[in-house]
Amino acid sequence: MSELTPDLLRELVAEARLAPSIHNIQPTRWRLLDGGRLALVDDTSVRAPVADPAGHDVLVSHGAALEGMSLALNRRGLAITAMTTIEQPLSSQFTALCSFAIRQGVAPDPLAGHVTHRMSWRGKFAASPDEPAPLVQLAVARDDLVCIGDRRAIADIAGWADQAEFSFVRGDDYRAELLEWMRLSGDHPQYLLDGLNRDALAMNAVEATAARFVLGSLFRPLDRLGFAASLLSDRAKTASAAAIVLFCRPVGEDPLTTGRHFYRSWLEIDRAGLVACPISAMADHPDFNDRLRKLGRIGTDLRLVNVFRIGRPAKPLKPRHFRLPIDRLIV
Ligand SMILES: Cc1cc2nc3c(=O)[nH]c(=O)nc-3n(C[C@H](O)[C@H](O)[C@H](O)COP(=O)(O)O)c2cc1C
Repeated sequence: MSELTPDLLRELVAEARLAPSIHNIQPTRWRLLDGGRLALVDDTSVRAPVADPAGHDVLVSHGAALEGMSLALNRRGLAITAMTTIEQPLSSQFTALCSFAIRQGVAPDPLAGHVTHRMSWRGKFAASPDEPAPLVQLAVARDDLVCIGDRRAIADIAGWADQAEFSFVRGDDYRAELLEWMRLSGDHPQYLLDGLNRDALAMNAVEATAARFVLGSLFRPLDRLGFAASLLSDRAKTASAAAIVLFCRPVGEDPLTTGRHFYRSWLEIDRAGLVACPISAMADHPDFNDRLRKLGRIGTDLRLVNVFRIGRPAKPLKPRHFRLPIDRLIV
């Protein structure tokens, strides 16, 4: 077993926090326990109850953070061992979801070097000449990813993605929650820390101001006039993707495990030289989930957990991360 010092823990958390989380809410905290074990702690005050009523995506986010910790350890020749997954309330705000010891001696993980480079790409993709090599690389690397590269299928999915997203956006609570996590002005106190800011959303100042009104006070009149859907459309972005990737995991899998694989899949996309953006609405909407399952010929033993649009970025990638300070993440 290896000794985890407070300084090392800070270094590890600085890397683990780069994992993706739903709306960038960052629900994961860490606590050093007696005996050198480390606990992954859920901050139960951090939720997106409308977009994620079952709390599944929060658990997937915790799983991604756990994988982030595993990769941070790996870069130092360390690994997670003796994991126990007993939910244990620590206070009214914090619940430990699992704890583990740390051991020395592990083979380098080829995905560990991609952690600081991966980010959500919410812009358009470059028109890529038919170039199947990265998609083949992905399919070989992971059997839980189904890549759809046919241009007509992608164009259809781009329309479905808009319909799925808009069906949720029509909910007043959904829009209110989304706006709560959006940081559309640079002087928002949380701009660099959490949620979805203008830079992350690939919006300029004018687009951000428009988004505030379209998702806010003007939504209902614009919807009545039939303009809201086209103003919020991501169709062109989705249609420009090199592929749509279906992320499928075994039915009944523990969501923490699903989250670990979700992050690894995204890092694998980065390793293939591509960028990605999840389209959760497609997986969350039963009808569109069903259509995609049929299109991807997904067996009944698998759950379609999420969907990515992937491709080459239209502009050079400048990785940036908006995250909570380490002090807030160690409790
Ligand atoms: C479970 C889960 C679902 C997500 N769903 C979406 C989504 O539907 N649309 C989107 O743009 N980003 C989605 N994301 C990406 C997060 O918003 C993103 O990871 C977070 O803002 C941090 O930014 P980064 O990925 O650039 O580091 C999702 C992430 C997770 C973990």
